[in-house]
Amino acid sequence: MLQGRTTVSKFLIEQLRGADDQADLAALLVDVTAAVKAIAAMTAKGALGGFLGSLGTENVQGETQKKLDVLSNEAMIQSCEWGGLVAGMASEELDEPYALPEQFERGAYLLVFDPLDGSSNIDVNVSVGTIFSVLRMTRLGEPQMADYLRPGLEQVAAGYAIYGPATMLVLTVGKGTHGFTLDREIGNFILTHPDLRIPEDTSEFAINASNERFWEPPVQRYVAECKAGKTGDRGRDFNTRWIASMVADVHRILMRGGIFMYPRDTKDPARPGRLRLLYEANPIGMIIEQAGGAASTGRQRILEVQPESLHQRVPVMLGSKNEIERLERYHREYDSGLDKPFVSPLFKDRSLFGDGVRA
Ligand code: F6P
Repeated sequence: MLQGRTTVSKFLIEQLRGADDQADLAALLVDVTAAVKAIAAMTAKGALGGFLGSLGTENVQGETQKKLDVLSNEAMIQSCEWGGLVAGMASEELDEPYALPEQFERGAYLLVFDPLDGSSNIDVNVSVGTIFSVLRMTRLGEPQMADYLRPGLEQVAAGYAIYGPATMLVLTVGKGTHGFTLDREIGNFILTHPDLRIPEDTSEFAINASNERFWEPPVQRYVAECKAGKTGDRGRDFNTRWIASMVADVHRILMRGGIFMYPRDTKDPARPGRLRLLYEANPIGMIIEQAGGAASTGRQRILEVQPESLHQRVPVMLGSKNEIERLERYHREYDSGLDKPFVSPLFKDRSLFGDGVRA
């Protein structure tokens, strides 16, 4: 039944009807969906496509590049560079912003993206994704670094694609967060999840628990209280999930609530977090806020962080609003010395190393 279905192009044209450059934004986002379909086709082929495995090279983050990282990066660039819609592009896979070939007309927008997020999951056939953020140039001329280094609040659009059992596209142009499912037979993204809303409360959290000893005390306190469940301060049981693919963890939160944390840790003191501000935390932050959730570093709203470099990392906590507010409160209490001293459960009185101390 094709009648009455809203394709992503129709949806964008309707949402962005008005000024001329809004039509250009719709056109750019349609170009992004073309790249996403190409990446979906490559990821879906799995081992049969010959795309699995590493290239033996490293990106600017020092991460081993997978063949699919590089191919996905090329798909995004080729799909978006030619149409006179972008002034420039930057990617997780490129040290510096992409040098747009001279023959292409310049447009008003900057596209920043992570072409294949969670790509360590590719070889084990677990969901991965593409994340993108769109900024508008505020002046004429070739973009300089400062044009990219703008807080997330200035994004005019953001989205991600998830390559899972179904390929979905989730996007926002600042008027709510909406989900589309790829109909593979006809090659169109169809609006299937309009106006996604994240419940304010949740009993589910996602974090890589193997880093627990490196977390700051407010995060240790939050997680310990969740794990204490019914018998602890929170008075109810919590559930954990960790896919190690940010888009997949975020998608679950958009579908049924929950929170996701990749906090600051001391594992590598040179890194103030794992996730990248411009093409991971900011676009996902905008999507989450537009769905009624919250996105924070623990100490600051993510969308208000002033970027200092293209590949900057930040601590990330996002999802159900009331839990993010609680985490922010725990950070404030810790920073001002007002929290009750946190004692690891290992050292509580009934534990193995118990000495009668109670938290
Ligand atoms: O881009 C970073 C990323 O792959 C995210 O998608 C994911 O949430 C995280 O890293 C997983 O990190 P770790 O391997 O430490 O669990």
